[in-house]
Amino acid sequence: MPLSHRSTLTQYLIEQRRRFPGASGDFNALILDVALACKAIARTVAFGDLGSAVSWQGGESGGNVNVQGETQKPLDVISNQVFTRINEWGGYCAGMASEEIDEPYQIPAQLPRGKYLLLFDPLDGSSNIDVNVSVGSIFSVLRAPQDVIDSGRDVTEADFLQPGMCQVAAGYALYGPTTMLMLSVGNGVVGFTLDPNLGEFMLTHPHVQVPVDTQEFAINASNSRFWEPPVKRYVDECLAGRTGARCKDFNMRWIASMVAEAHRILMRGGVFLYPRDTKDLTKHGRLRVLYEANPIAFLMEQAGGRASTGREPMLDVQPTSLHQRIGLVFGSKQEVERIERYHCEPAKLDFESPLFAERSLFRN
Ligand code: AHG
Ligand code: MN
Ligand code: MN
Repeated sequence: MPLSHRSTLTQYLIEQRRRFPGASGDFNALILDVALACKAIARTVAFGDLGSAVSWQGGESGGNVNVQGETQKPLDVISNQVFTRINEWGGYCAGMASEEIDEPYQIPAQLPRGKYLLLFDPLDGSSNIDVNVSVGSIFSVLRAPQDVIDSGRDVTEADFLQPGMCQVAAGYALYGPTTMLMLSVGNGVVGFTLDPNLGEFMLTHPHVQVPVDTQEFAINASNSRFWEPPVKRYVDECLAGRTGARCKDFNMRWIASMVAEAHRILMRGGVFLYPRDTKDLTKHGRLRVLYEANPIAFLMEQAGGRASTGREPMLDVQPTSLHQRIGLVFGSKQEVERIERYHCEPAKLDFESPLFAERSLFRN
Protein backbone atom coordinates (compact mmCIF):
# COMPACT_ATOMS: atom_id res chain seq x y z
CA MET A 1 0.00 0.00 0.00
CA PRO A 2 1.51 3.40 -0.94
CA LEU A 3 2.13 5.98 1.77
CA SER A 4 -0.20 8.19 -0.31
CA HIS A 5 -1.09 11.67 0.76
CA ARG A 6 -1.21 11.04 4.50
CA SER A 7 1.27 12.60 6.92
CA THR A 8 2.91 10.58 9.65
CA LEU A 9 2.95 11.79 13.25
CA THR A 10 6.62 12.74 12.76
CA GLN A 11 5.79 14.87 9.71
CA TYR A 12 2.94 16.57 11.58
CA LEU A 13 5.22 17.39 14.50
CA ILE A 14 7.93 18.79 12.22
CA GLU A 15 5.35 21.03 10.54
CA GLN A 16 4.12 22.25 13.92
CA ARG A 17 7.68 22.93 15.05
CA ARG A 18 8.19 25.29 12.10
CA ARG A 19 5.89 27.69 13.95
CA PHE A 20 8.65 27.99 16.59
CA PRO A 21 11.96 28.50 14.80
CA GLY A 22 13.92 28.43 18.08
CA ALA A 23 12.53 25.09 19.24
CA SER A 24 15.15 22.49 20.14
CA GLY A 25 13.23 19.46 18.97
CA ASP A 26 12.98 18.04 22.49
CA PHE A 27 9.22 18.46 22.55
CA ASN A 28 8.77 16.53 19.30
CA ALA A 29 11.09 13.82 20.54
CA LEU A 30 9.06 13.55 23.74
CA ILE A 31 5.77 13.19 21.87
CA LEU A 32 7.32 10.53 19.63
CA ASP A 33 8.48 8.63 22.73
CA VAL A 34 4.96 8.87 24.18
CA ALA A 35 3.62 7.53 20.87
CA LEU A 36 6.13 4.67 21.01
CA ALA A 37 4.96 3.80 24.53
CA CYS A 38 1.36 3.79 23.27
CA LYS A 39 2.28 1.48 20.39
CA ALA A 40 3.98 -0.91 22.80
CA ILE A 41 0.92 -0.90 25.08
CA ALA A 42 -1.42 -1.34 22.09
CA ARG A 43 0.46 -4.47 21.11
CA THR A 44 0.41 -5.86 24.66
CA VAL A 45 -3.31 -5.15 25.00
CA ALA A 46 -4.02 -6.73 21.60
CA PHE A 47 -2.51 -10.05 22.70
CA GLY A 48 -5.02 -10.25 25.55
CA ASP A 49 -4.85 -13.50 27.48
CA LEU A 50 -2.35 -14.87 24.96
CA GLY A 51 0.21 -12.41 26.30
CA SER A 52 2.60 -14.16 28.69
CA ALA A 53 2.71 -11.15 30.99
CA VAL A 54 -0.99 -11.41 31.68
CA SER A 55 -1.84 -15.10 31.57
CA TRP A 56 0.62 -16.23 34.21
CA GLN A 57 -0.64 -13.65 36.66
CA GLY A 58 -4.39 -14.19 36.34
CA GLY A 59 -6.93 -11.39 36.40
CA GLU A 60 -5.42 -9.17 39.07
CA SER A 61 -1.85 -8.02 39.58
CA GLY A 62 -1.39 -10.12 42.68
CA GLY A 63 -3.20 -7.89 45.13
CA ASN A 64 -1.26 -4.67 44.51
CA VAL A 65 -3.29 -1.59 45.38
CA ASN A 66 -2.35 1.80 43.94
CA VAL A 67 -2.48 5.12 45.76
CA GLN A 68 -6.12 5.47 44.70
CA GLY A 69 -6.97 2.38 46.75
CA GLU A 70 -7.75 0.50 43.51
CA THR A 71 -6.50 -2.99 42.74
CA GLN A 72 -4.06 -2.86 39.86
CA LYS A 73 -4.51 -5.14 36.88
CA PRO A 74 -1.35 -6.72 35.42
CA LEU A 75 -1.80 -4.48 32.39
CA ASP A 76 -1.96 -1.37 34.62
CA VAL A 77 1.45 -2.30 35.99
CA ILE A 78 2.94 -3.24 32.60
CA SER A 79 1.61 -0.09 30.91
CA ASN A 80 3.06 2.04 33.67
CA GLN A 81 6.48 0.41 33.23
CA VAL A 82 6.33 0.92 29.47
CA PHE A 83 5.56 4.63 29.92
CA THR A 84 8.29 5.27 32.47
CA ARG A 85 11.00 3.21 30.73
CA ILE A 86 10.41 4.68 27.27
CA ASN A 87 10.16 8.27 28.46
CA GLU A 88 12.93 8.41 31.04
CA TRP A 89 16.02 7.93 28.90
CA GLY A 90 15.73 10.59 26.16
CA GLY A 91 16.62 13.60 28.28
CA TYR A 92 13.34 15.41 27.59
CA CYS A 93 11.61 14.91 30.94
CA ALA A 94 12.40 16.56 34.25
CA GLY A 95 10.09 14.10 36.00
CA MET A 96 6.87 12.18 35.61
CA ALA A 97 3.63 11.53 37.47
CA SER A 98 1.45 8.47 37.01
CA GLU A 99 -1.86 7.21 38.31
CA GLU A 100 -0.01 4.07 39.35
CA ILE A 101 2.84 5.73 41.29
CA ASP A 102 2.23 7.39 44.66
CA GLU A 103 5.05 9.96 44.48
CA PRO A 104 6.54 11.92 41.56
CA TYR A 105 8.74 9.67 39.42
CA GLN A 106 12.39 10.80 39.36
CA ILE A 107 14.49 10.42 36.24
CA PRO A 108 17.31 8.02 37.30
CA ALA A 109 20.50 9.88 38.27
CA GLN A 110 22.61 8.41 35.44
CA LEU A 111 20.21 9.78 32.77
CA PRO A 112 19.93 13.38 31.51
CA ARG A 113 16.97 15.48 32.63
CA GLY A 114 14.95 17.80 30.40
CA LYS A 115 12.44 20.60 30.66
CA TYR A 116 9.08 18.82 30.51
CA LEU A 117 6.88 17.10 33.04
CA LEU A 118 4.99 14.10 31.71
CA LEU A 119 1.80 13.07 33.50
CA PHE A 120 -0.18 9.99 32.51
CA ASP A 121 -2.85 7.45 33.20
CA PRO A 122 -1.10 4.50 31.57
CA LEU A 123 -4.28 2.46 31.16
CA ASP A 124 -7.64 4.14 31.49
CA GLY A 125 -10.75 2.00 31.76
CA SER A 126 -8.73 -1.03 32.85
CA SER A 127 -11.78 -2.53 34.55
CA ASN A 128 -12.88 -3.24 30.97
CA ILE A 129 -9.78 -5.24 30.06
CA ASP A 130 -11.23 -8.61 31.03
CA VAL A 131 -14.30 -8.01 28.82
CA ASN A 132 -12.40 -6.83 25.74
CA VAL A 133 -13.82 -3.33 25.66
CA SER A 134 -11.77 -0.33 24.48
CA VAL A 135 -9.20 1.09 26.88
CA GLY A 136 -6.57 3.77 26.38
CA SER A 137 -3.66 5.81 27.73
CA ILE A 138 -4.04 9.49 28.63
CA PHE A 139 -1.13 11.94 28.83
CA SER A 140 -0.45 15.56 29.67
CA VAL A 141 2.73 17.58 29.12
CA LEU A 142 3.66 20.56 31.31
CA ARG A 143 6.76 22.71 31.30
CA ALA A 144 8.82 22.14 34.44
CA PRO A 145 9.33 25.19 36.68
CA GLN A 146 12.41 27.15 35.60
CA ASP A 147 14.44 26.30 38.72
CA VAL A 148 13.93 22.59 38.05
CA ILE A 149 15.22 23.04 34.50
CA ASP A 150 18.18 25.16 35.67
CA SER A 151 19.22 22.98 38.60
CA GLY A 152 18.22 19.52 37.40
CA ARG A 153 16.97 18.84 40.93
CA ASP A 154 14.49 16.11 41.83
CA VAL A 155 10.89 17.07 41.11
CA THR A 156 8.38 17.56 43.92
CA GLU A 157 4.61 17.30 44.02
CA ALA A 158 4.35 21.12 43.94
CA ASP A 159 6.09 21.24 40.53
CA PHE A 160 3.16 19.36 39.00
CA LEU A 161 0.37 21.46 40.56
CA GLN A 162 -0.22 23.66 37.52
CA PRO A 163 -3.69 24.54 36.17
CA GLY A 164 -4.75 22.68 33.03
CA MET A 165 -4.44 25.84 30.93
CA CYS A 166 -0.66 25.53 31.38
CA GLN A 167 -0.52 22.27 29.45
CA VAL A 168 1.86 22.36 26.51
CA ALA A 169 0.27 19.29 24.97
CA ALA A 170 -2.24 16.60 25.83
CA GLY A 171 -3.68 13.54 24.22
CA TYR A 172 -4.65 9.95 24.47
CA ALA A 173 -4.22 6.68 22.66
CA LEU A 174 -7.30 4.54 22.23
CA TYR A 175 -6.88 0.77 21.96
CA GLY A 176 -10.07 -0.08 20.13
CA PRO A 177 -10.84 -1.84 16.85
CA THR A 178 -8.06 0.41 15.54
CA THR A 179 -5.39 2.07 17.66
CA MET A 180 -5.65 5.83 17.45
CA LEU A 181 -3.68 8.73 18.86
CA MET A 182 -5.54 11.97 19.46
CA LEU A 183 -3.28 14.92 20.12
CA SER A 184 -3.27 18.64 20.76
CA VAL A 185 -0.10 20.69 20.88
CA GLY A 186 -2.19 23.81 21.48
CA ASN A 187 -3.16 24.28 17.83
CA GLY A 188 -6.43 22.35 17.51
CA VAL A 189 -6.89 18.61 17.78
CA VAL A 190 -5.65 16.05 15.28
CA GLY A 191 -6.14 12.30 15.13
CA PHE A 192 -3.82 9.56 13.89
CA THR A 193 -4.60 5.93 13.12
CA LEU A 194 -1.91 3.32 13.68
CA ASP A 195 -0.99 1.58 10.44
CA PRO A 196 -0.08 -1.86 11.80
CA ASN A 197 1.98 -2.70 8.70
CA LEU A 198 4.18 0.36 8.96
CA GLY A 199 4.00 0.74 12.75
CA GLU A 200 3.34 4.43 12.12
CA PHE A 201 0.60 6.75 13.31
CA MET A 202 -0.90 8.25 10.14
CA LEU A 203 -2.84 11.52 10.17
CA THR A 204 -6.43 10.52 9.45
CA HIS A 205 -8.37 13.25 11.33
CA PRO A 206 -6.71 16.62 10.59
CA HIS A 207 -9.40 18.96 12.00
CA VAL A 208 -11.29 17.43 14.91
CA GLN A 209 -14.28 19.55 15.98
CA VAL A 210 -16.86 18.70 18.63
CA PRO A 211 -20.37 19.57 17.39
CA VAL A 212 -21.73 22.37 19.58
CA ASP A 213 -25.04 20.63 20.13
CA THR A 214 -25.95 17.03 20.88
CA GLN A 215 -28.69 14.61 21.83
CA GLU A 216 -26.44 12.07 23.53
CA PHE A 217 -25.27 11.98 27.15
CA ALA A 218 -23.09 9.66 29.23
CA ILE A 219 -23.29 9.22 32.98
CA ASN A 220 -23.10 6.35 35.47
CA ALA A 221 -26.79 6.35 36.42
CA SER A 222 -26.22 3.93 39.31
CA ASN A 223 -24.95 6.97 41.22
CA SER A 224 -28.15 8.95 40.69
CA ARG A 225 -29.15 8.94 44.35
CA PHE A 226 -25.87 10.68 45.16
CA TRP A 227 -26.09 13.38 42.47
CA GLU A 228 -26.38 17.04 43.33
CA PRO A 229 -29.63 18.80 42.25
CA PRO A 230 -28.24 20.50 39.10
CA VAL A 231 -27.05 17.15 37.72
CA LYS A 232 -30.27 15.44 38.61
CA ARG A 233 -32.24 18.17 36.91
CA TYR A 234 -30.12 17.96 33.77
CA VAL A 235 -30.42 14.18 33.46
CA ASP A 236 -34.12 14.16 34.28
CA GLU A 237 -34.71 16.71 31.54
CA CYS A 238 -32.77 14.56 29.07
CA LEU A 239 -34.80 11.52 30.07
CA ALA A 240 -38.07 13.42 29.72
CA GLY A 241 -37.13 13.80 26.06
CA ARG A 242 -39.59 15.24 23.58
CA THR A 243 -42.32 15.65 26.17
CA GLY A 244 -40.13 17.52 28.67
CA ALA A 245 -38.36 20.87 28.97
CA ARG A 246 -35.81 20.00 26.28
CA CYS A 247 -38.45 19.13 23.65
CA LYS A 248 -36.20 16.47 22.09
CA ASP A 249 -35.25 12.87 22.74
CA PHE A 250 -31.80 11.92 24.02
CA ASN A 251 -29.70 8.79 23.75
CA MET A 252 -27.61 7.53 26.66
CA ARG A 253 -24.21 5.81 26.49
CA TRP A 254 -21.93 4.53 29.27
CA ILE A 255 -18.77 2.57 28.48
CA ALA A 256 -17.01 3.10 31.85
CA SER A 257 -13.84 3.89 29.92
CA MET A 258 -13.49 7.67 29.85
CA VAL A 259 -11.00 7.62 27.04
CA ALA A 260 -13.52 5.78 24.85
CA GLU A 261 -16.30 8.20 25.83
CA ALA A 262 -14.04 11.17 25.10
CA HIS A 263 -13.30 9.70 21.69
CA ARG A 264 -16.96 9.23 20.84
CA ILE A 265 -17.60 12.84 21.84
CA LEU A 266 -14.66 14.18 19.78
CA MET A 267 -15.98 12.25 16.78
CA ARG A 268 -19.72 12.96 16.93
CA GLY A 269 -20.49 15.17 19.92
CA GLY A 270 -22.21 14.37 23.19
CA VAL A 271 -21.77 15.20 26.82
CA PHE A 272 -20.03 13.18 29.54
CA LEU A 273 -20.63 13.71 33.23
CA TYR A 274 -18.75 12.25 36.16
CA PRO A 275 -19.87 14.96 38.55
CA ARG A 276 -19.01 15.58 42.16
CA ASP A 277 -21.53 13.67 44.25
CA THR A 278 -22.31 12.69 47.82
CA LYS A 279 -21.28 9.03 47.52
CA ASP A 280 -18.04 9.50 49.43
CA LEU A 281 -17.60 12.94 50.91
CA THR A 282 -13.86 12.40 51.33
CA LYS A 283 -13.52 12.37 47.52
CA HIS A 284 -14.45 15.37 45.37
CA GLY A 285 -15.26 13.30 42.32
CA ARG A 286 -14.14 10.12 40.58
CA LEU A 287 -11.65 11.27 37.98
CA ARG A 288 -8.16 12.54 38.68
CA VAL A 289 -7.33 16.17 37.89
CA LEU A 290 -3.81 16.00 36.55
CA TYR A 291 -3.77 12.98 34.25
CA GLU A 292 -7.45 12.39 33.41
CA ALA A 293 -9.54 15.58 33.67
CA ASN A 294 -6.97 18.15 32.50
CA PRO A 295 -5.75 16.42 29.33
CA ILE A 296 -9.28 15.51 28.24
CA ALA A 297 -10.44 19.08 29.02
CA PHE A 298 -7.56 20.48 26.95
CA LEU A 299 -8.55 18.31 23.97
CA MET A 300 -12.22 19.25 24.28
CA GLU A 301 -11.52 22.98 24.40
CA GLN A 302 -9.02 22.74 21.55
CA ALA A 303 -11.71 20.98 19.49
CA GLY A 304 -14.31 23.67 20.16
CA GLY A 305 -16.03 21.79 22.97
CA ARG A 306 -16.07 22.66 26.65
CA ALA A 307 -14.97 21.10 29.95
CA SER A 308 -16.06 22.17 33.40
CA THR A 309 -16.37 21.07 36.99
CA GLY A 310 -19.92 22.42 36.75
CA ARG A 311 -18.77 25.39 38.79
CA GLU A 312 -15.74 26.60 36.88
CA PRO A 313 -13.85 25.82 33.69
CA MET A 314 -11.79 22.68 34.27
CA LEU A 315 -8.65 24.28 32.86
CA ASP A 316 -8.83 27.10 35.47
CA VAL A 317 -8.72 24.76 38.47
CA GLN A 318 -5.65 25.17 40.66
CA PRO A 319 -4.66 21.60 41.61
CA THR A 320 -3.80 20.95 45.24
CA SER A 321 -2.40 17.42 45.18
CA LEU A 322 -0.91 14.95 42.73
CA HIS A 323 -3.75 12.43 42.79
CA GLN A 324 -6.59 14.89 43.49
CA ARG A 325 -10.02 13.91 42.20
CA ILE A 326 -12.65 16.23 40.76
CA GLY A 327 -16.12 16.36 39.24
CA LEU A 328 -15.93 16.65 35.46
CA VAL A 329 -18.37 17.48 32.69
CA PHE A 330 -17.19 17.74 29.09
CA GLY A 331 -18.34 17.67 25.49
CA SER A 332 -20.59 19.69 23.24
CA LYS A 333 -20.38 23.31 24.23
CA GLN A 334 -24.05 24.14 24.55
CA GLU A 335 -24.79 21.19 26.81
CA VAL A 336 -21.83 21.85 29.10
CA GLU A 337 -22.84 25.51 29.34
CA ARG A 338 -26.38 24.44 30.22
CA ILE A 339 -25.07 22.22 33.03
CA GLU A 340 -22.95 25.12 34.29
CA ARG A 341 -26.05 27.35 34.28
CA TYR A 342 -27.96 24.78 36.32
CA HIS A 343 -25.15 24.86 38.89
CA CYS A 344 -25.51 28.65 39.16
CA GLU A 345 -29.29 28.69 39.44
CA PRO A 346 -30.91 28.08 42.83
CA ALA A 347 -32.25 24.54 43.23
CA LYS A 348 -35.76 24.19 41.83
CA LEU A 349 -37.45 22.54 44.76
CA ASP A 350 -40.70 21.99 42.93
CA PHE A 351 -39.04 20.26 39.99
CA GLU A 352 -40.93 17.18 38.76
CA SER A 353 -38.75 14.17 38.02
CA PRO A 354 -40.15 11.72 35.46
CA LEU A 355 -38.04 8.72 36.32
CA PHE A 356 -36.49 9.16 39.72
CA ALA A 357 -39.42 10.92 41.36
CA GLU A 358 -39.67 8.66 44.37
CA ARG A 359 -35.95 8.80 45.03
CA SER A 360 -35.37 12.36 43.90
CA LEU A 361 -33.02 14.54 45.88
CA PHE A 362 -35.72 17.21 45.56
CA ARG A 363 -38.09 15.27 47.77
CA ASN A 364 -37.72 13.90 51.23
P1 AHG B 1 -9.01 3.87 35.58
O1 AHG B 1 -9.29 2.60 34.82
O2 AHG B 1 -7.77 4.57 35.08
O3 AHG B 1 -9.00 3.67 37.06
O4 AHG B 1 -10.18 4.92 35.26
C1 AHG B 1 -11.51 4.52 35.19
C2 AHG B 1 -12.37 5.73 35.18
C3 AHG B 1 -12.87 6.15 33.83
O5 AHG B 1 -12.25 5.61 32.73
C4 AHG B 1 -14.32 5.79 33.81
O6 AHG B 1 -15.06 6.76 33.18
C5 AHG B 1 -14.68 5.67 35.25
O7 AHG B 1 -13.51 5.45 35.96
C6 AHG B 1 -15.64 4.52 35.47
O8 AHG B 1 -16.22 4.68 36.66
P2 AHG B 1 -17.35 3.70 37.22
O9 AHG B 1 -16.59 2.63 37.92
O10 AHG B 1 -18.16 4.55 38.16
O11 AHG B 1 -18.17 3.20 36.09
MN1 MN C 1 -8.31 6.35 34.33
MN1 MN D 1 -5.70 3.86 34.83
